[in-house]
Amino acid sequence: MTVIGTGYLGATHAICMAALGYEVMGVDTDSDKIVKLAGGEVPFFEPGLPELLAKALDSGRLRFSTSFEEAAAFGDVHFVCVGTPQLEGSHAADMQYVDAAFEELALHIDRRALLVGKSTVPVGTASRLAGRVRSIAPAGPLAEVAWCPEFLREGFAVEDTMRPERLVFGVESAWAEDMLRRSFDPVITPDMPVVVTDMATAELVKVAANSFLATKISYINAMAQVCEAAGADVQDLATAVGLDSRIGKRFLRPGLGFGGGCLPKDIRAFTHRAEELGVGHAVAFLREVDAINMSLRHRTVDLVQEIAGGSVAGLKIAALGIAFKPDSDDIRDAPALEVIDQLRQLGADVRVYDPVAMDNARAVRPELTYCDSALGAARDADVVILLTEWAAFREIEPAMMGRVVRQRRIIDGRHALDSARWRAADWRYKALGRPA
Ligand code: UGA
Repeated sequence: MTVIGTGYLGATHAICMAALGYEVMGVDTDSDKIVKLAGGEVPFFEPGLPELLAKALDSGRLRFSTSFEEAAAFGDVHFVCVGTPQLEGSHAADMQYVDAAFEELALHIDRRALLVGKSTVPVGTASRLAGRVRSIAPAGPLAEVAWCPEFLREGFAVEDTMRPERLVFGVESAWAEDMLRRSFDPVITPDMPVVVTDMATAELVKVAANSFLATKISYINAMAQVCEAAGADVQDLATAVGLDSRIGKRFLRPGLGFGGGCLPKDIRAFTHRAEELGVGHAVAFLREVDAINMSLRHRTVDLVQEIAGGSVAGLKIAALGIAFKPDSDDIRDAPALEVIDQLRQLGADVRVYDPVAMDNARAVRPELTYCDSALGAARDADVVILLTEWAAFREIEPAMMGRVVRQRRIIDGRHALDSARWRAADWRYKALGRPA
């Protein structure tokens, strides 16, 4: 098999498939990425992946290339894993990378092969590409398209690829289904559901799932704002509501909201596509989900100002965390960066620290003051603010940090800290929707 696109999704898929015993070729137009991967270096942070890459390379089953011609000659099944970022100036998805990957590959497909899309795309894309591939591939109708959405989470990418909760196959023929079953044979266990459906449904499953997750997060964050106004405690509320097994406690953690390369752009692209299909009204609530999520960034800045006594101008603020979530170096649409930007605009002197995302952050925000530890960032701080819930931040000893700051004031932007421990060490602790 081949894997086209070696970003967070594709590199993980290629490495895991080789580790599972398949002959795999990873393909990318970015030769730097290919050189790194071929040399045993994963170009991003993902726990467990570097070790697995080393094993896969040692096995001789994993190779890399920048050539679509080589890929077409090599593979019977081709997984397309390139990105669909938000189009500039629009809510739509930018389809240029997916379209180019299918086109360039199809031009070289001269025997029976399956081209499988894994990228998150607007519904209707798979069917459009299937027609295009048939018409330009030398193999004609023997070049088939299928859709197999990916549900992996950054930080748990290896686990989610090796032991997914389900697989979804969007297919147009029994042959395509058979090829997909054979491509995931070691992953498919008797108790792991495989949903076989048409391509449009498979495309929609992905955006519907991400929209639901985003809605759940914005729901609890809306409750946090009500709790804040009513003097109630959103953490107890989330615990009690989540104990209803119909609701469930996961994705009910309040805080700064969702970011990253998936949830924000996926709900926007979904809304855009639904409008094109004439059913924009059916998912109009996703605009509210997005608006609630974005408002949390301003609300968190407000909390910093409130705890600082009104203004942050001239104050030193320690920002702990930049990545959009822990166990990732991904800073795409990271809520932390926006909070940091706003605090700086208000005149604060912000010192930042993140265990792995600082190199990525430096590339887009060279002007920030980066520190080499959480304690370093907190030195002489007037307010400490937790922006990404890294496990290491949870373990910070409040008394020890209390000795280096100027003022013991902390905003827990991720509802991740034990408020009682911090208060016991004489800190003023505040999180949105929790009593002061
Ligand atoms: C998300 C989905 O969870 C994956 O299933 C999907 O495959 C992926 O997008 C994708 O489309 O590729 P990911 O972006 O890695 O995965 O991150 P999540 O774990 O979903 O977290 C998203 C954001 O929500 C983070 O910023 C996180 O901090 C935030 N979050 C999550 C909350 O604010 N509260 C919660 O309770 C949970």
